[in-house]
Amino acid sequence: MVRPLIAGNWKMNGLSGDSDTISQIARGLEGLDNVADCLICPPATLISKAADTASGTRLTVGAQDCHANVSGAHTGDVSAEMIADIGASHVIVGHSERRADHGESNEVIAAKAEAAFRAGLVPIICIGETLDEREAGQTIEVVSSQLAGSIPAGAFGKAFVVAYEPVWAIGTGKVASVDQVEEVHDKIREILGERFPGQADETPILYGGSMKPGNAAELLAASNVDGGLIGGASLKADDFLAIYGAC
Ligand code: G3P
Repeated sequence: MVRPLIAGNWKMNGLSGDSDTISQIARGLEGLDNVADCLICPPATLISKAADTASGTRLTVGAQDCHANVSGAHTGDVSAEMIADIGASHVIVGHSERRADHGESNEVIAAKAEAAFRAGLVPIICIGETLDEREAGQTIEVVSSQLAGSIPAGAFGKAFVVAYEPVWAIGTGKVASVDQVEEVHDKIREILGERFPGQADETPILYGGSMKPGNAAELLAASNVDGGLIGGASLKADDFLAIYGAC
């Protein structure tokens, strides 16, 4: 059985005062059934504080990216080891915003996922098609190829998470229909089953893209959807907890 995961990606949002939101989420979880794991990925500047705040609660803290190397001359970058060192448990790799803004290829993302394993972190490997690709009927082809290229060989026997985030649904308010989500998630499970026999049924597959309290229950009930990767709605404790509650 897959243990569901509700994860928040704060992206480049949050100042030190916003750590209150972390406490509110951690406190709010105490009043909810323990049906899923719950994770917040704040910007790198807040990971340490968030991890301290979440310590001893059901909330865990992750990062939004890491470098593939352990250390060295990489100005501005942060390694998986550094992230683990300050209390994170997960790291998002291959988000479409990094693929687009930083030209990250599947190979780079696979190397980052390997780095996460090396540091003892669980990588959340993101994939998803653009609107043009969907309209050209290439969704399954694109997602399959991203999946094949972004999950490293070292994932065999290791815990990792796949997040399907159609690019056209991110931050746009356009949500993929349940049919669209199920078609892709079923395919992801099938591909994982072929490549990682025995492991695919334990790998959470998250949906991300304009998930809100109002649509979460329907999306989270879709086949092979094991949770959500939530952007905008994770910035407010009430909204994020409502999504957790819908799980
Ligand atoms: O990683 C989360 C994400 O890209 C979805 O963002 O704001 O559409 O929920 P949002």
